[in-house]
Amino acid sequence: MSSFIAESLSRVKPSPTIAVTNKAAELKAAGKDVIGLGAGEPDFDTPDNIKQAAIAAIQSGKTKYTAVDGIPDLKKAICAKFKRENGLDYKPSQVTVGTGGKQVLYNALMATLNPGDEVIIPAPYWVSYPDMVLLAGGEPVVVEAGMETGFKLTPEALRGAITPKTKWLIFNSPSNPTGAGYTRAELKALTDVLLDFPHVWVMTDDMYEHLAFAPYEFCTPAEVEPKLYERTLTVNGVSKAYAMTGWRIGYAAGPEPLIKAIAKIQSQSTSNPSSISQWAAVEALNGPQDYIPMSREVFQRRRDLVVSMLNQAAGIHCPTPEGAFYVYPSIAGCIGKTAPSGKKIETDEDFVSELLESEGVAVVQGAAFGLSPFFRISYATSDKTLEEACTRIQRFCAALK
Ligand SMILES: Cc1ncc(COP(=O)(O)O)c(C=O)c1O
Repeated sequence: MSSFIAESLSRVKPSPTIAVTNKAAELKAAGKDVIGLGAGEPDFDTPDNIKQAAIAAIQSGKTKYTAVDGIPDLKKAICAKFKRENGLDYKPSQVTVGTGGKQVLYNALMATLNPGDEVIIPAPYWVSYPDMVLLAGGEPVVVEAGMETGFKLTPEALRGAITPKTKWLIFNSPSNPTGAGYTRAELKALTDVLLDFPHVWVMTDDMYEHLAFAPYEFCTPAEVEPKLYERTLTVNGVSKAYAMTGWRIGYAAGPEPLIKAIAKIQSQSTSNPSSISQWAAVEALNGPQDYIPMSREVFQRRRDLVVSMLNQAAGIHCPTPEGAFYVYPSIAGCIGKTAPSGKKIETDEDFVSELLESEGVAVVQGAAFGLSPFFRISYATSDKTLEEACTRIQRFCAALK
């Protein structure tokens, strides 16, 4: 059977964050008291005005195939969003809509990578980037962006990673899994490097744009360095911004030939994203925006709670992230210790599985994101749950000998 499966899949692994979420759900179903902090989605409900727009779309018969890469109304709303929030001018013909940002990123890589083409991915990274590059036949070039530099890629490391084969830099700020957000000056230092290498394009994943905590302010490459506009794909979506993960709408804007190539792939694979979700996304982008500051405020409060409680756990050091809804604490101080089960903690995978076994808290090991020994917590859950989870983590760490 295994020889029947395509060789290209042998280099790819299933999403480890989905695996942790499934494992926690399994244990829960078996009656275990488990707190899952693995899933990367807002715990809020989709705002009502957006749901109503979807219901209206169904009732008025907007239930048929649409243009492959998005209805004109949504493309217009996306152009308005880029102008309003990012100061970026895009025409509807420069915009593509897909089934989640995930599909847009994947299609963009499929549309551009030839065998041997390199894609620079700062680590820790969102779990899907390297595997998407591999599926598209390219070579991920992972560049460490460690805790010492705030989990941010330095201009020197970027310059050192570029070769004649580099096609893309994948840039993600605020980041999943660290929450690190590049300041304008930090991003400018990177775009300055890219100006020296006209063959390198930027794929910027701005999914967590609206979860940027003051005094940190979000910025995006094409806005910070207009000279990069012609070789930047600006990717965004409604999943995190409007608590719409299940609706599956993501989008991107960039040079027309690239946008056309992405649409070509979509036309021969999935066709249009759900018509109903597209109409919901029109309302999300054009309608009232009060969900955004409300959720930002809640997430900032939760960040402060989690950072403070984790820093009181023996052996853990938790930096304060600028955005998103993740923390990425170091467990260097726990490595080498022994858990109550008698198991020695040698890796972050050991830490995570012992924590799940002994305290029923599901988090994701740093190894999944390309930088150890760390783990990721998604704090997109209630304050009460987070307090309980952090108390359990403190107890677990205190019991390590
Ligand atoms: C960094 C990052 N990019 C992209 C996505 C994909 O989001 P969606 O496909 O729901 O738009 C996610 C979701 O977890 C993410 O964390």
